[in-house]
Amino acid sequence: MRLMTSSPPIPTGRLNQGAARLLSGLLEARTGQTLSEGRAWRMETALRPVLRDHDLVDMDSLAATLLRNSDAPLEAAVIDALLNNESSFFRDLQIFDMIARQILPHVHTDRQDRTLRIWSAGCSTGQEAYSLAIQLRNDWSRWNGWRIEILATDVSGAAIDQARAGIFSQMDVQRGLAIGDLIKWFEPHGDDWRASPELRRMIDFRQDNLFDPAVPTGEYDLLLCRNVLLYFTPERRQVVLSLLARRSHAKSVLLLGAGETVIGQGGDFIAHPEFRGGYARQGLLPIPTAGPTRRAG
Ligand SMILES: C[S@@+](CC[C@H](N)C(=O)[O-])C[C@H]1O[C@@H](n2cnc3c(N)ncnc32)[C@H](O)[C@@H]1O
Repeated sequence: MRLMTSSPPIPTGRLNQGAARLLSGLLEARTGQTLSEGRAWRMETALRPVLRDHDLVDMDSLAATLLRNSDAPLEAAVIDALLNNESSFFRDLQIFDMIARQILPHVHTDRQDRTLRIWSAGCSTGQEAYSLAIQLRNDWSRWNGWRIEILATDVSGAAIDQARAGIFSQMDVQRGLAIGDLIKWFEPHGDDWRASPELRRMIDFRQDNLFDPAVPTGEYDLLLCRNVLLYFTPERRQVVLSLLARRSHAKSVLLLGAGETVIGQGGDFIAHPEFRGGYARQGLLPIPTAGPTRRAG
């Protein structure tokens, strides 16, 4: 898959501009992400472990190696290092409150086939998907006899490996996880914590690129694509929103990150009339009835 790059000016420290442009161009071509200014400044720091692991002396030799050879593992390591994988459990708590109090009960009463399908797109190291699994498990009697599918995808192979292992540091679990949920759903794993087998079994983690998607098929009741669209160009956001729309049905709910919106991004989604901060697929919502209609005459 090749995406066009837009070559913005890259603010860097001592890093030579040619190498910086090549590396950020690689990230953009493979993932659609443009480097935020903060990350561009920290490019050298982010890539230091890659230099060490591949016996490269500096950024120029990294750029030269990438130009000279096609080295897929090196390319993947550079992309993983430059992606912003920031995530936390129950990030933006009010969204998870709305999922638990409004969206899931609504799906529960609505789905005759007793199937719940959730897609966490751009799931990073898995905290979002595990938060959803915890919410469902904490209300498990409601879902008795249901088929529950949680698909969680990310372009970063390293993030998906970590998510699938379900191992989180002390610092990770302190960010957003209630102590009761930590004790109930995680077990000590050396200095870290590991999600219980019950939680891990609930989530299908897959490496997948939103611009070259292989995995998501069918339609999802709840779609989360939070804090992913931020660093895409408007055109690319539209491409991703159309993919999300193709994976939605008339009653699906889409949730984006706090700083993201569908407004001005094509016509695939509109603000959800019931769930504040959520989005519904444009043109598919059932038309609200205005009460019993009066017969003429
Ligand atoms: C800032 S994290 C957000 C994680 C989580 N959704 C949350 O809100 O906590 C953004 C994630 O999007 C992923 N991403 C970026 N471009 C992507 C693409 N083209 N396809 C799939 N995932 C992508 C990154 O690898 C990163 O893990």
